[in-house]
Amino acid sequence: MIEFHNVSKVYSNGTKGLKNINIKIYRGEFVVTVGLSGAGKSTLLRSINRLHEITDGEILIDGQSITAAKGKELRHLRRDIGMIFQSFNLVKRSTVLKNVLAGRVGYHSTLRTIFGRFPKEDVELAFRALDRVNILEKAYSRADELSGGQQQRVSIARALAQEAKIILADEPVASLDPLTTKQVMDDLKNINQEFGITTIVNLHSIDLARDYATRIIGLHAGEIVFDGPVEEATDEKFAEIYGRSLQEEEFLGVAAK
Ligand SMILES: Nc1ncnc2c1ncn2[C@@H]1O[C@H](COP(=O)(O)OP(=O)(O)OP(=O)(O)O)[C@@H](O)[C@H]1O
Ligand SMILES: [Mg+2]
Repeated sequence: MIEFHNVSKVYSNGTKGLKNINIKIYRGEFVVTVGLSGAGKSTLLRSINRLHEITDGEILIDGQSITAAKGKELRHLRRDIGMIFQSFNLVKRSTVLKNVLAGRVGYHSTLRTIFGRFPKEDVELAFRALDRVNILEKAYSRADELSGGQQQRVSIARALAQEAKIILADEPVASLDPLTTKQVMDDLKNINQEFGITTIVNLHSIDLARDYATRIIGLHAGEIVFDGPVEEATDEKFAEIYGRSLQEEEFLGVAAK
């Protein structure tokens, strides 16, 4: 379980990224956070594994404070959290297999992983993870030879090889076409269901959120303005929260970029 207790984040320039967030996310949930650009989706997600430091409050993971954790304790908490980015974050010139093995780094000494000496079990785990996302045949290809969707599946395989209990995905499909989007979202949903991995995904599209989420969290200016099951996340509800429909705002936002 992930618990936010009175969590706030003020950036050094004074911008309020999060304002007094209190939520509990239970094991195995598939939560999608939605909101306009600048609402605080990335800040919320990244505060969980401390890619961003919060300025107030506390975040607990299975009862343990990641906010207060240091050194080995922090490393161990982070080992349970896989991160998936819009831009994939792969080592482009490395093979797919090596990228997936990077998920094992937290389990071994630095020296061992620098020389790429992973135990046989790790290599088997990496192959199984690649098979799970249907790109086993790409194991020895260079990461940058893969399509965007395939690269995103490598990053999902990396989280699987990491044996993450939580997956945080920050706009994982923002740079993908509709078909590839479906494949990547299906992969995330399938591993969430099969392994019970708690999954939190930031998305721009409320329609996509409805297709995959068990619970939707709506953010606006650093505050939670909606938190409920998909059935309650109606167009009317979002129009009420955002003043006009999210799609319309979203479209205007994209068009303005
Ligand atoms: N490093 C930073 N320094 C200062 N302000 C920041 C920083 N990162 C984000 N912000 C601000 O914090 C607020 C929340 O940003 P955040 O990136 O979490 O939004 P988001 O919902 O993820 O938006 P998007 O949909 O565009 O990714 C915004 O006002 C943003 O400008
Ligand atoms: Mg963001």
